[in-house]
Amino acid sequence: MGKKSVVGFSKLSKEAKMEWIANEYLDGDSNCIDLLKSYWHENKKVQKIHDEFIENTISNFYLPFGIAPNFLINDQIFCIPMAIEESSVVAAAAKNASFWMERGGFKAEVISTIKIGHVHFAWYGQYEKLVKFFDKIRSKFFDQTDYLTANMRERGGGILDIQLINKTDLEPNYYQLMAKFETCEAMGANFINSILEEFSKILQQEINESDFSDDEKRLVIIMCILSNYTPECIVRSEVSCPIEKLTEGTDLSPEEFALKFEQAIHVATIEPYRATTHNKGIFNGIDAVVLATGNDFRAVEACGHTYAARDGQYKSLTQVEVVDGQFKFWIEVPLALGTIGGLTSLHPMVKFAHQLLGNPNVEQLMKIIASVGLAQNFGAIRSLVTTGIQKGHMKMHLLNILNQLGATEEERKIVKEYFSTKVVSHQAVVNYFSKLRGISQKDLIKKNK
Ligand code: MEV
Repeated sequence: MGKKSVVGFSKLSKEAKMEWIANEYLDGDSNCIDLLKSYWHENKKVQKIHDEFIENTISNFYLPFGIAPNFLINDQIFCIPMAIEESSVVAAAAKNASFWMERGGFKAEVISTIKIGHVHFAWYGQYEKLVKFFDKIRSKFFDQTDYLTANMRERGGGILDIQLINKTDLEPNYYQLMAKFETCEAMGANFINSILEEFSKILQQEINESDFSDDEKRLVIIMCILSNYTPECIVRSEVSCPIEKLTEGTDLSPEEFALKFEQAIHVATIEPYRATTHNKGIFNGIDAVVLATGNDFRAVEACGHTYAARDGQYKSLTQVEVVDGQFKFWIEVPLALGTIGGLTSLHPMVKFAHQLLGNPNVEQLMKIIASVGLAQNFGAIRSLVTTGIQKGHMKMHLLNILNQLGATEEERKIVKEYFSTKVVSHQAVVNYFSKLRGISQKDLIKKNK
């Protein structure tokens, strides 16, 4: 294609960026520019906020923002904001929230809120000597970062611990300063990274000023960075009820249902292929709320998957127990979230999401999000072991297919009515719709290209 590269793209105005793209990549197609502009917010101030979140913004990218009502969590009812494109996710969350509202709701508790970060470094002396040296200077890491931690300490957080970790069994000369933090209402990435960088300077200076030999004074700071793996920042949410209350709307007996449910969770515990899809379904719910509340869904996902593999095999994040006819189903998941900082005070929709949830603190938000993940997983497993997943999924997807086919309101009504008792598939909808319009499938597809 021989497209042009560009120097100084970020310095161009938004209009100039779009024009350059249109000319160099889209054969000068001005419709594309119109499309991009049609997604700009009409309020210039709001648009400017979005423009400045990232570099090279040329437009906005919409995702549906939906609501799952009736989440009863620790005796309080929530309307949950969810930002997600997958058709059946909000419907499933809402359906399963109502299901559990009638059975006592979700009981959630935060188990721990510790975040972790490392200074990764190489040092070329005897480990025992480094241990002694570290013990002597350890307090300096706290004292000399006082000015960075003052505000956080006032809020009840700060540095909880600093340890020297020997990693030379994995890599010669590789050590870490591993620090633990309490970051209160903040997700804490900037706080932690700033302190770690300061730690590395303190370490360097103390080694320079030590009585180590020239060889021992050789220190290579490899990097300073928080870990998105937070196995000590954990929340648990649980639902429970007698098994007789589970089978409403299914053809299974309570015992059959409970057994199949247990088997499904067991499969996700022993079989990574299934566990991945199982946990993906959990993150359908978790990510949607994490995104709507302006949190970092990549960090939450990465952490969740590492946690799911914490004992050497990737497995289900949810567990089930059926004892004496009582069904208990729970999730334990790491969630490093923030309710201040980042997008939370900038993005108007994120602010709205927090407001809708009653401006929860971090621990409340952890409990809400874990409960949504659990509801999503319960709904998925319930469908999978009874009707199959496609029934509900395709019913929601029907609207997407009708939109693709350019159906009118009247046609949508007729098609929805027709498929209310039939299996939805893309082909079946195309068949029926082309007959309804009295045109061939070929013409229908051509028309909507
Ligand atoms: C689809 O996005 C998610 C599910 O596949 C999850 C699952 O299989 O448990 C339905």
